[in-house]
Amino acid sequence: MKILLNNDDLNEALYNVSNLGFIPTMGSLHKGHISLIKKSQRECNKTIVSIFVNPTQFNNKKDYKKYPRNYKKDLSILNKLKVNFVYLPRKEDIYKSKRAKKIKLDKKDKILCAKHRNGHFEGVIDIMDRFTKIIKPKKIFMGEKDFQQLYLVKKFIEEKYNTKIISCKTIRDKNKFALSSRNLLLNKTALIKAGNVAKHIFSFKKKIFKKKNIQKIINDKKNEIEKLFNIKVEYFELRNIRNFKSSNKTKDSKIFISYYLNKVRLIDNI
Ligand code: PAF
Repeated sequence: MKILLNNDDLNEALYNVSNLGFIPTMGSLHKGHISLIKKSQRECNKTIVSIFVNPTQFNNKKDYKKYPRNYKKDLSILNKLKVNFVYLPRKEDIYKSKRAKKIKLDKKDKILCAKHRNGHFEGVIDIMDRFTKIIKPKKIFMGEKDFQQLYLVKKFIEEKYNTKIISCKTIRDKNKFALSSRNLLLNKTALIKAGNVAKHIFSFKKKIFKKKNIQKIINDKKNEIEKLFNIKVEYFELRNIRNFKSSNKTKDSKIFISYYLNKVRLIDNI
């Protein structure tokens, strides 16, 4: 495994590499990341993983500061997985050049997390644009856990580059909570609660399959979940998975939720 600490290292290592698979991460790797890496290893000749906690996608400085960082453990996981390259860029490697055109979301995309985290996706799209330009991967592997991120990044990157974004299923713990690096900020009781919230939504979604006034049922459910689990729900919405429009049937749609548990913001889609 080659560790690339700057862009000179990167350019030298990737010279002549084709069919490269890329997994962008902010570290604190878990089984979700591992499944992305294994998929890349099956589909591509070489695999590169980046670890970079990207400051520009945090709309809240405190959140950036307390984001879990576990570089040593991450490197040991990646080494065991035999990934070919790990890219640990410095800020200046990524942000050396100024953007010609500011990233702007379409008005119709300012929903869910885009509505509640000002500038977040602009930061994510910007860094994914920079990564793709520098690394030139054939495929980028991203998890469905961050479904809106996946959708917006795919739209932007596939239009601009000859790179495919490969979407990969969310990995859940046996208690059903979706794996996320932010889970490291939660204790065991909170994680069990997060699992119970997910289980509740899975069974709710099955029950509303043939119901008519689905939007009203969804709204009522949001309030019920807040009371039942004593959590603050930021959004709870049923949307079509292809165009993200509000949906009134469960087919081709997902329930998107964001909520706060012990001051940690969690998202899921079911
Ligand atoms: O999903 C993440 O971990 C980040 O948003 C990403 C894609 C690595 C960009 O910084």
